[in-house]
Amino acid sequence: MRVDIVSIFPEYFAPLELSLIGRARARGTLQLDVHDLRTWTHDVHRTVDDTPYGGGPGMVMRPEPWGQALDALVPADGPAPRLLVPTPTGAPFTQALAHELAAEPHLLFACGRYEGIDQRVLDHAAERMPVTEVSLGDYVLFGGEVAVLVIMEAVTRLLPGVLGNAGSLDEESHAHGLLEAPVYTKPPLWRGHEVPAVLRSGDHGRIARWRRDESLRRTAGRRPDMLAAMPAETFDKHDLAALQGTGFPQSSQGMAE
Ligand code: ADE
Repeated sequence: MRVDIVSIFPEYFAPLELSLIGRARARGTLQLDVHDLRTWTHDVHRTVDDTPYGGGPGMVMRPEPWGQALDALVPADGPAPRLLVPTPTGAPFTQALAHELAAEPHLLFACGRYEGIDQRVLDHAAERMPVTEVSLGDYVLFGGEVAVLVIMEAVTRLLPGVLGNAGSLDEESHAHGLLEAPVYTKPPLWRGHEVPAVLRSGDHGRIARWRRDESLRRTAGRRPDMLAAMPAETFDKHDLAALQGTGFPQSSQGMAE
């Protein structure tokens, strides 16, 4: 996969040299280049922002440097990249979107700062390539850089060969619309807290059932929105027993009143 990142703070992306992302780059699974937006400024102050039309606080990123950056980074021949613009006004970033992005051959990230990028940059880009505005969550960061680090970590670990044990992708939180059950390792007794006996039983059927029950209860408690999104047919009689007292499934999930 090829990835280009444009930012006024290229130094933010130093962590992408480390750990499994760094290894994916060294192996060629990931070809990543970080570009300084100011490369495409031409005034002595290398200006990237200006005051907003219509008034209001803050500054807006000017369209000219962004237009030239995209012209330079979008191949003239061959397929256009998918442009990703982190912004608190974007669609939520989810594991499903991470999977979608992991299947793309070329991603181009545009990191906005201040009040954001002049909207015409995105409207013009959308004439040439798919554009996705994406939000990490309902809070406001200084800019898109940290969001790109998060998205790159979520996407890179889905690339073939990056994780040693691909099975862990299938079992992890969010893989099946539920949060993962708690995990334990040795020693079996630590500061008076014991590892649940079922996990030490060697009975794989009981262990799987216990994990599913814990997943269901944890999701009901912490992320009722995720459980509410699951169709009632997803739950068998064992699931219903685990969910007893949690308020799930709800009548709106199609169960009899
Ligand atoms: N830029 C500023 N806030 C952001 C957020 N919540 N998600 C993505 N990008 C952002």
